[in-house]
Amino acid sequence: MQSLREILQENQKKKVAIGHFNISDIVALHAIFDTARELKYPVLIGVSEGERKMIGVKQAAALVRSLRDEFSYPVFLNADHTESLEHVREAAQAGFDEVMFDGSKLPFEENVKQSKRAVELAKSINPNVVVEAEIGYIGSSSAIIDKRPEASLKYTEPEEAVRFVKETGIDVLAPAVGNMHGMMRDMISGAAHKRLDIPRIGKIKQAVGTFMTLHGGSGTADEDFVAAIKNGMNIVHVNTEIRIAWRRGVKEFPNEIAPYKILPGAYKRIAEVVRDRLKLYNS
Ligand code: G3H
Ligand code: ZN
Repeated sequence: MQSLREILQENQKKKVAIGHFNISDIVALHAIFDTARELKYPVLIGVSEGERKMIGVKQAAALVRSLRDEFSYPVFLNADHTESLEHVREAAQAGFDEVMFDGSKLPFEENVKQSKRAVELAKSINPNVVVEAEIGYIGSSSAIIDKRPEASLKYTEPEEAVRFVKETGIDVLAPAVGNMHGMMRDMISGAAHKRLDIPRIGKIKQAVGTFMTLHGGSGTADEDFVAAIKNGMNIVHVNTEIRIAWRRGVKEFPNEIAPYKILPGAYKRIAEVVRDRLKLYNS
């Protein structure tokens, strides 16, 4: 079976992206995995520090590995938004395929220093692990928000991206290009969308030449997703849409108490989001 790195390389040639979806439980994992398998696309599962606390670090790794082994299917696991080197170590030791170190709240020089250490540490444990880091702040949580954070309006410059990639040795860069974590209410109804700076994505890609991830995907205009991928994004993260789908699905059974009768509602809604997004990323 191909590794995550090989899939990224192959997708890069085809100008398609791998979908990354976050989970907090096994219901979302099954919904994402089954949908990806039905469509025959590889898929990346993400667990942030909070999500990892809920599932367990070793348990998340064991669950994803068991699906990969049982079905011989390219499903991978990312330690999303890892903020400490201790947690980088923990994820790499547990066998995560990717570790995303998030120093985006730090001043640039400090972010460079810590991201470099994260690369060295993760690769000393597993030389094949894919390491990603972020420059530019795009908001901190996959939540429903009332106002766009001011700091997320400052976009990544190609020159700083080049320095960041060179000095840290990362495999994947997560830039700020109009994307933002979370959704505003008018985005949930579909009345408004996040818009991306497509020319900037192209310029950053040309300058760094490395793999790139689009974070904060929820609520992005469909045509911007496609253009971002054609211009160099290799991984696309969606979480808030998954969380909203989970919540809506659970609400559909107010009189049930058996989890196995309630949770299929969440499964179905999550699968709908994943199906739509994966088709778009691979179009
Ligand atoms: O790492 C997770 C993502 O960047 C998700 O962002 O909640 O806006 O989809 P989102
Ligand atoms: Zn993110």
